[in-house]
Amino acid sequence: MRIDGVAYRSVWVNAEDGWSVHILDQTKLPWAVEIVRLTDVAQAAHAIRAMQARGAPLIGALAAYGMCLALRADVSTDAMERDAKLLAATRPTAVNLGWALERMLTRLRNTLPAERVPVAYAEAAAIADEDVAQNQAIGRHGLPLIEAAAARKGGKRVNVLTHCNAGWLATVDWGTALAPIYTAHNAGLDLHVWVDETRPRNQGAALTAWELGKHGVPHTVVADNAGGHLMQHGDVDLAIVGADRVTRAGDVANKIGTYLKALAAHDNRVPFWAAVPSSTIDWTVSDGVAEIPIEERSAAEVTDVTGRTAAGRIETVRVSPLDSAAANPAFDVTPARLMTGLITDRGRCDASIAGLLELYPERRQGVV
Ligand code: MRU
Repeated sequence: MRIDGVAYRSVWVNAEDGWSVHILDQTKLPWAVEIVRLTDVAQAAHAIRAMQARGAPLIGALAAYGMCLALRADVSTDAMERDAKLLAATRPTAVNLGWALERMLTRLRNTLPAERVPVAYAEAAAIADEDVAQNQAIGRHGLPLIEAAAARKGGKRVNVLTHCNAGWLATVDWGTALAPIYTAHNAGLDLHVWVDETRPRNQGAALTAWELGKHGVPHTVVADNAGGHLMQHGDVDLAIVGADRVTRAGDVANKIGTYLKALAAHDNRVPFWAAVPSSTIDWTVSDGVAEIPIEERSAAEVTDVTGRTAAGRIETVRVSPLDSAAANPAFDVTPARLMTGLITDRGRCDASIAGLLELYPERRQGVV
């Protein structure tokens, strides 16, 4: 996608030195576009943990490049296994992280140590390129949902609600939930996006609003609690969210607050879809509420808010009493029964084991 006319991915290898890894520092957006150069595995792990790079598919791709940086320092099998564990421990909920690391290790364990570095870069590039292709496919498979909503409204503007940031910043390019939106916008459909602010870290207000704005997509930021009201008044035609992990039964783990939006959508008969690349499906897990590990982040993300003052300074202020405790579960699980369906890179399906197996018949043996 483009920032002021220049095409970017959210992670890339420095074209000049051919090995260091660049990311956009998402903790600085929307106030500044800052590129961070990562040169070792500790920096890559820090970037994921501190959410300089975030979003399930992106942390998978960055972890893959983190392995490249790790191998540049030490190609031995012991170091490789240790550094993969270091990267895997950065964030627990998004399955893409473990998926990408396992794919890298499978390739690298079968490679002689002396040959590992170029093989690792090639595999990481393949993961990144496949992510872009999968997200474009999600865009194509999601487009008919927006077209159908437009047809139902006689061509009047379609309102789509989204939560958190599942746009190009959260992936290598295009995004998952935003891919159908970009595809529809590029095709000339009249649409508008309700952007949940997504407390506590404000990925919606800071990141989704920024990237939609850069692409010229009409949007409005709303407080997290506004969605139910908007749905009751017919102001949401459909909701599309991303996912950090989808179970084989179709339960969807995503940013905290997604479940409440799904409940409101269900009550108001608003279609509620999750956009899911294949790498986000965890075939080993069935019951999302019981089995998906939910990241608990720092209480400071809840008690404090960072933003730009009228004078242009970036400042962090405390919004709750100094002696109040805060809890910060970062994700929740929406049970499959509340999902209208899943938009995958292979097509759309019911959020159920039968629906998923129709698109992934090769998984039939392992799960039934
Ligand atoms: O904590 P974050 O910002 O990494 O959470 C991101 C989300 O919850 C996204 O919706 C999800 O990763 C899908 S990204 C395409």
